[in-house]
Amino acid sequence: MYLGLDLGTSGLKALLVDGEQKAVASATAELSVSRPHEGWSEQEPADWIAAAEEAIGALVRSHPRQMSALRGIGLSGQMHGATLVDAAGMVLRPSILWNDTRSHEEARALDADPRFRQITGNIVFPGFTAPKLAWVRANEPEIFDRVAKVLLPKDYLRLWLAGETISDMSDSAGTSWLDVASRRWSPDLLAATGLGEQHMPSLVEGTASAGRLRGELAAKWGMTGHVVIAGGAGDNAASACGLGVAKGGEAFVSLGTSGVVFAATDAYLPNPQSAVHTFCHALPTTWHQMGVILSATDGLNWLAGVTGAKPAELTGELGAELRAPSGVTFLPYLSGERTPHNDATIRGALIGLSHQSDRASLTQAVLEGVAFALRDNLEALRSAGTELASVMAVGGGSRSQLWLKTIATVLGIPVELPADGDFGAAFGAARLGLIAAENAEPDSVLTRPRIASTIEPDYALASAYGDAYARFRALYPALKGV
Ligand code: XUL
Repeated sequence: MYLGLDLGTSGLKALLVDGEQKAVASATAELSVSRPHEGWSEQEPADWIAAAEEAIGALVRSHPRQMSALRGIGLSGQMHGATLVDAAGMVLRPSILWNDTRSHEEARALDADPRFRQITGNIVFPGFTAPKLAWVRANEPEIFDRVAKVLLPKDYLRLWLAGETISDMSDSAGTSWLDVASRRWSPDLLAATGLGEQHMPSLVEGTASAGRLRGELAAKWGMTGHVVIAGGAGDNAASACGLGVAKGGEAFVSLGTSGVVFAATDAYLPNPQSAVHTFCHALPTTWHQMGVILSATDGLNWLAGVTGAKPAELTGELGAELRAPSGVTFLPYLSGERTPHNDATIRGALIGLSHQSDRASLTQAVLEGVAFALRDNLEALRSAGTELASVMAVGGGSRSQLWLKTIATVLGIPVELPADGDFGAAFGAARLGLIAAENAEPDSVLTRPRIASTIEPDYALASAYGDAYARFRALYPALKGV
């Protein structure tokens, strides 16, 4: 038995799979985000542990026999979060999350130092880890002085599970401190933020063994043998492992809190000026490119909050057939944007409202706006040399067939929906747990799922959506100007 733990932003998911990679059971525990100031986004690491205890505890209660046979755990997590611990492993302040943009000035300053783009292959985005530490150094110096280790969210879970400070390459690539080509910490970049390699966890590949479950926890959960913990991955690389997206040209689109267009690459192919992220994959000698938008399902959640209707109710009102573009344009920049704008201060907009603009047309505008932002990401990957013939779809938003049809039409490529089952980050993490525990060949484990349906673009509406995309493209510079 193998357990995948995916520490997301809105919840933690635990997925138990057997040696045939069949899902046996899953459990989730909710998490909430604290936004004490505009642009801030924080979580208490203690809440992550409580969520892991809750989800794992639920599996131990419902499947005690299977859980006792656990051999491997894989960790996946929301990326970039700065979790600061002192020499005793005590947390020094709430973790500053990936969608926190308070450090945009610090990010700009680090990004102006050419070594960052040259060594990491990426823009220093405000959401990345290094500028957060620069912010803490400037604003909370008494905390900065006590930092012994900077851990990413899933690696803080590892500290609790295994008592070890270890990270993997894919997650570490999002810190702005990793030499992404040679898969090592960069002492120069660490020094630029007043830190050294001693402040970082040690590094392994995602498929490698990185700690063992502490005896105390194994005893509490009734596990009988040694439980290996894999290096694991940042949530996007973990989803790629779940979908078998491991070789150059294979790709997926993720509709989670954030939205991602992800392509695996067989070589390190940086292109920071397009605001594409170039990170290590969770597999040795493999990298990936991705475009990231900060609000995907978060856009729909926002509308749900405002209207008092659930997201599924909102999309349900639109029916299953794709209609012509709504005429209302939504810019999903609720917490700024990464690809392609790298703009922490831009905010969202609804433009083109009329007396006819009812709730359904606003929902349609939100689905379209996210699809247009994903098209911007596809274009950014294109400018970085990556052409995609099709994408698989994952994440909560992929439950809406209409959204997938909108995305296929706007991207102009088919969207493949995996057959029923769970191929997300928790599954990818469980696969990494299996590989590490059994020393298995990644290729034999990371197979592609059966595709249940292929959603083709609606060619009859393609030109209308092309025009609507052109309007969307024109709005960012206009909005920026005001
Ligand atoms: C990737 C990113 C997000 C988070 C979401 O760079 O910031 O996709 O990983 O959990």
